[in-house]
Amino acid sequence: MAIERIIDTSAHNNDTEEQQVEVTLRPGSFDEYIGQDRLKSNLRLSIDAARKRGEPIDHVLLYGPPGLGKTTMATVIANEMRTNIRITAGSAIERAGDLASILTNLTDGDVLFIDEIHRLGRAVEEVLYSAMEDFKLDIMIGKGPAARSVRLDLPKFTVIGATTRTGALTAPLRDRFGIIHRLEFYTPSEISRIIERASNILDSKIDHQAAEMLSTRARLTPRIANRLLKRVRDYADVNGDGIIDMATTEAALNLLEVDELGLDPGDRNLINRIIDNYGDNPVGLNTIAALTGDEATTIEEFYEPYLLQIGFIERTPRGRRVTAKAYKHVGKTQSVAKN
Ligand code: ADE
Repeated sequence: MAIERIIDTSAHNNDTEEQQVEVTLRPGSFDEYIGQDRLKSNLRLSIDAARKRGEPIDHVLLYGPPGLGKTTMATVIANEMRTNIRITAGSAIERAGDLASILTNLTDGDVLFIDEIHRLGRAVEEVLYSAMEDFKLDIMIGKGPAARSVRLDLPKFTVIGATTRTGALTAPLRDRFGIIHRLEFYTPSEISRIIERASNILDSKIDHQAAEMLSTRARLTPRIANRLLKRVRDYADVNGDGIIDMATTEAALNLLEVDELGLDPGDRNLINRIIDNYGDNPVGLNTIAALTGDEATTIEEFYEPYLLQIGFIERTPRGRRVTAKAYKHVGKTQSVAKN
């Protein structure tokens, strides 16, 4: 994305300060982890059973919109299993040899977390199949007529894969995961608790009503909640006595142009562009991308999940359609649609 958005859900991998804060705030156990209750109960059961048998848990696939805690959940799983976690990403494993070197460095019971697992290349994915299924590594040694294939034993490890797009995963890879779960958006009250927990850890004071206000503007996403909290804290430090109350929260959010539903100028522009050009007729993803100047995947992964969640956009077989609720929010009246 060209413009940095405060409500951006990506992990800002080039921003070390942000990454450090995210790691500091990360819950370390299921008890500390707020929300995703159904997922936690399911995982607790799998972990208890695996520990009883003295085995690693089955491979886990976590999917859902960015910023909802897939990496965090993977670290919690490793902690609860009392094992090490090795964190990598689909785009970082370029060749089969890269994967071979990661796999041969694991020890029994380790968790290998692969973020954005749908980005793995075909050749790498094929090595991963037998590694996940039989804990064997098939590698080719040499080239040409002298080449031969060898099979190495691997430690018994667990892959935790994360993806924002399950549709982009190949069926054979998907089939290798015994436990597949979707992370859901959080409720405002869960977000409010996450904000209060984070402000405690960051040693900043936020009153309960301000936390509640912030929770309605964070797109039901912990990563955004924590990012907004830090910006509001800056505002309170500079313009007030450092205490985050309703007034400072409101003023800081206005300055950031984040409205009462957590939408920023980018979202409002997207809705306005669709309405102005297509009314409430269905529009294809690529057309929306052309209207806003974004990539289609950016629309699909970053803008759309929350807009769908709050009922501003609906998916139809012929494309995405803006709803009456969205019209109302941007102050436009639904007329006979023009084309
Ligand atoms: N920080 C970010 N996500 C969190 C969560 N789900 N629970 C507690 N703290 C968090």
